[in-house]
Amino acid sequence: FTKQSLTMTVTIKTETDIAHMRVACKFASEVLDFIEPHIRAGISTGELDRMMDDYMVNVQKTISATLGYQPPGYPPYPKSCCISLNDVICHGVPDDEKFLKDGDILNIDITVITPAGYFGDTSRMFIVGEGSIAAKRLCAVTYECMWLGIAQVKEGATLGDVGAAISAHANANGMSVVREYCGHGIGKVFHEEPQVLHYGVKGTGLKLKAGMIFTIEPMINAGKRDLRTMSDGWTVKTKDRSLSAQWEHTILVTPTGYEVLSLSDGYPPLPDFIKTTKC
Ligand code: MF3
Ligand code: CO
Ligand code: CO
Repeated sequence: FTKQSLTMTVTIKTETDIAHMRVACKFASEVLDFIEPHIRAGISTGELDRMMDDYMVNVQKTISATLGYQPPGYPPYPKSCCISLNDVICHGVPDDEKFLKDGDILNIDITVITPAGYFGDTSRMFIVGEGSIAAKRLCAVTYECMWLGIAQVKEGATLGDVGAAISAHANANGMSVVREYCGHGIGKVFHEEPQVLHYGVKGTGLKLKAGMIFTIEPMINAGKRDLRTMSDGWTVKTKDRSLSAQWEHTILVTPTGYEVLSLSDGYPPLPDFIKTTKC
């Protein structure tokens, strides 16, 4: 989420919190499993949003964390998820007039709130039909960036280790890391400390402790990292109109490593566009 000044306390979750977060994050992932077969040329992003909202409310009995969400300085967010198409970096607002077409790449970012009040946050990339080689490469490199960052997580490692691993891989592939938005602590609050930057210097920054829960959600641009926010106050695009990709998981720090909380039984069906792409 938006890099900003927050209070400096990082909470250590209790076993009860962790059990609730496993449930919340799995629900978020299952919303994406549900919507995947409906992603095709001709459907609008507004229609996808309605289908996911219906699934959350009526099937899962969760609610969207984004609907009506209003951080300081923002208008209330009007939809139940973010759908970010092509050159949209993040916070794309679903729209009944925006129809998917062959070759589009899109990120769908879902955050649910369970009846117990816990937030689960995850996002994935999808490609409509056969994407271009450049689009597949961007999605695959970004997926690898997320997992390289996750692989750094363990008690005693630092957030600088996470950011450095992500940016090294993006830069080695000639891509750029967005700096204005970052991962975040999460629990009974949507966005809390720590801020998880997707760039940094190994060995610096917050030292990780078992029981911390945060997202890792790198936004990687095929071109330059510069961005522009649209007049709706939410949609963020690349300034040079280059494609942008993002993947997100919610992660628990454990004594020996990490647990990815936002996995579902249907995940990862490693998408073909990643299996077949060499980074
Ligand atoms: N889910 C986004 C994140 O990863 C936040 C979306 S806030 C919204 O932090 F209001 F734009 F939906
Ligand atoms: Co998210
Ligand atoms: Co997030």
